[in-house]
Amino acid sequence: MSIIVDEEALVFQLDAKDVSYLLRIHKYGVPIHLYHGKRLKCACPEKIFEDYMKPYTPCYREGDPDFSLETAPQEYPLYGVTDYRPEALQLTLADGVSSFELQYKSHKVFAGKPVIKGLPATFCNDEEAQTLAVLLQSPDNEQVWVELFYTVFEKYNVITRSAKISNVGNAPFTIHGAASMAIDFPGNGYDTINLGGAYGKERWPDRMTLHTGERRVSSTTGASSHVESPFLMLCDHDATETAGNVYGFNLVYSGNHECVAHVGAAGDTRVLLGINPANFSWLLEPGEDFYTPEAVLVYSDQGIGQMSRTFHDFYRQHLSRSLHAQKVRPVLINNWEATYFDFDHDKIVSIAKKAAEVGVELFVLDDGWFGKRNFDNCSLGDWYVNETKLPGGLRVLANKINDMGMDFGIWVEPEMVSPDSDLYREHPDWCLHTGTGKRYQSRDQLVLDLSRTEVQDYIINAMATVFSSASVAYVKWDMNRPMTNVGSKALAPERQKEVAHRYMLGLYRVMDVLTDRFPDILFEGCAGGGGRFDAGMLHYMPQFWASDDTDAWERCKIQYGTSYVFPPICSGNHVSAVPNHQTQRITPLHTRGNVALSGAFGFELDLTALSKEELTEIKRQVCLYKKIRGLVLDGDFYRIHNPFTENICGWQIVSKDKTEVVAILTQKLFIPNSRNTYFKFQGLDPKGLYQEIETGNNYYGDELMYMGIQNIKLMKDFDSCIFHLRMLPIES
Ligand code: GLA
Repeated sequence: MSIIVDEEALVFQLDAKDVSYLLRIHKYGVPIHLYHGKRLKCACPEKIFEDYMKPYTPCYREGDPDFSLETAPQEYPLYGVTDYRPEALQLTLADGVSSFELQYKSHKVFAGKPVIKGLPATFCNDEEAQTLAVLLQSPDNEQVWVELFYTVFEKYNVITRSAKISNVGNAPFTIHGAASMAIDFPGNGYDTINLGGAYGKERWPDRMTLHTGERRVSSTTGASSHVESPFLMLCDHDATETAGNVYGFNLVYSGNHECVAHVGAAGDTRVLLGINPANFSWLLEPGEDFYTPEAVLVYSDQGIGQMSRTFHDFYRQHLSRSLHAQKVRPVLINNWEATYFDFDHDKIVSIAKKAAEVGVELFVLDDGWFGKRNFDNCSLGDWYVNETKLPGGLRVLANKINDMGMDFGIWVEPEMVSPDSDLYREHPDWCLHTGTGKRYQSRDQLVLDLSRTEVQDYIINAMATVFSSASVAYVKWDMNRPMTNVGSKALAPERQKEVAHRYMLGLYRVMDVLTDRFPDILFEGCAGGGGRFDAGMLHYMPQFWASDDTDAWERCKIQYGTSYVFPPICSGNHVSAVPNHQTQRITPLHTRGNVALSGAFGFELDLTALSKEELTEIKRQVCLYKKIRGLVLDGDFYRIHNPFTENICGWQIVSKDKTEVVAILTQKLFIPNSRNTYFKFQGLDPKGLYQEIETGNNYYGDELMYMGIQNIKLMKDFDSCIFHLRMLPIES
């Protein structure tokens, strides 16, 4: 049993693998947070302290001057009821009242997980998880019900949370903000890490010590964004990759989000996660429910690396619905950086031929195949083939590629419309715009209004037609601009602030329908590179293009940061040409390969322009990937050298049974006369004898871990090396 309930004291103990989470209902009906951390054998309810220090704030109940919510650790705090810290729920009733209490009404425990209507979420069967649902109601108005869900995954150090807000009254009310979770930690001795960045440098880990006030990570771009991922981590000041208490919080959502860590007057730390309340509201009619996205809480008492491995294990099994989630990924080639818009049938076929020769398994035709799109200023929305470029359409090209022994894939950007398109001329009000009619353009495109069902249906039909028009085995689903003018012609004025969230619900519906209808297609998400690389999208698409920045050293940083939350297999990584198109940097071909290998591997360059030697190297990389891709799919990932603080980046992947390991080491700049690099492995069997496959050198696991491989010679800028070892069978 992972959920233990003391029915009398109303104490709930949630036990996942090595983690416990405790809450109780206070005598005044408020759900109080008791504990989140290393697993406890059993908490003793009678000893659980119920009165909290009274600060300079009003008391919650007359006659009990010592109790104020300001210092009580809570599960779903509100404003205006003696607590001055950030609130989980903001709501205005029809009569203008915006402050009210929420009190315990009932609870239930059930097998499995509740459905979070309309939103992506992690999944499980009834044997794998148990859920506690705590129902709160507002005694002041008897109209607002809030149900808090806590799902405990017994085999992981994972608890997921979400909330359902229900209108059980006779009049509508307006939600201005509804967090997925709130939790109050004792004290303020924490650092936070978030994954910040920008286009071309997505998900850089950023560590800060918490001080009084707020650390707030959020997005208002309409996507989870390049700038701040929906992830926040809290850890001990001295937590490292391998030691310390670490709490990771990740939202399964792809739109505007907010993650807050707040240190209040009494010095305690509150964490909140959810849809960004900025520019958001939701009118809830009587009888309706509002569901918050799911928040995934991971705890590790063995440092940041262990937190990441828990996220990886959990997301690999319980996040993506795609049939491909549990499968090794094909080596692909994408023509974008090879040709941009300048291609025709013959050019594509010439690259494809070379690709087939080096062992590539999937050819992806990127932007520029439809409408009259020879540049990025037109035709989004006109999803019919440009037969001047591709006579006979996609089918002829796809068949030719299939005849070469490769699968065929295609790029689409269905959420957008170019003002210069037939679609826009026909439906100028189908894009996001406000009452002023203003439409700010970005890359000469506008965002379609996916809050409208007819727009969702148009996308579903247009894409279904494309996907069925040829043997499409893979789709790269792009989204290339942040939202502006976030309004919808189809919604009443009082509902305009619902648009950004309704857009996400619409997108999720589209994804649901298309991934159901085309279960065999491998979908890869993209948003101007990695601008929507989040757990929400990964629910439908098992991989995401990590960044348009394909420079090997920059990719070390991007993939290192991405691995905080997401398994390496989720990251689309390509070898591209030099000088790199984003940084102009020249890095060796073997390094570009080594860095890209730990993920969904591919190429993005003109193979017809390469020398014989370069093609031989590429062939070697393809062969190597095919050997290690099982490991990349589900091995344990260890970050060993940090490219943000060291001259070197190093990581390794170990098979679950510890019999195989691959380690990749990349140097930034060569420094003359400096000691040769060494690499200490982690997570191996200390007694196992491992053989390096290329050299035949043997090492014991303890040797590899404690002494490390010494004298690694990386003799030039951006040099790199890879170690692939297998444990030798134990002699009997
Ligand atoms: C975005 C993607 C690129 C490429 C282009 C095509 O920028 O990130 O990989 O597909 O769009 O326009």
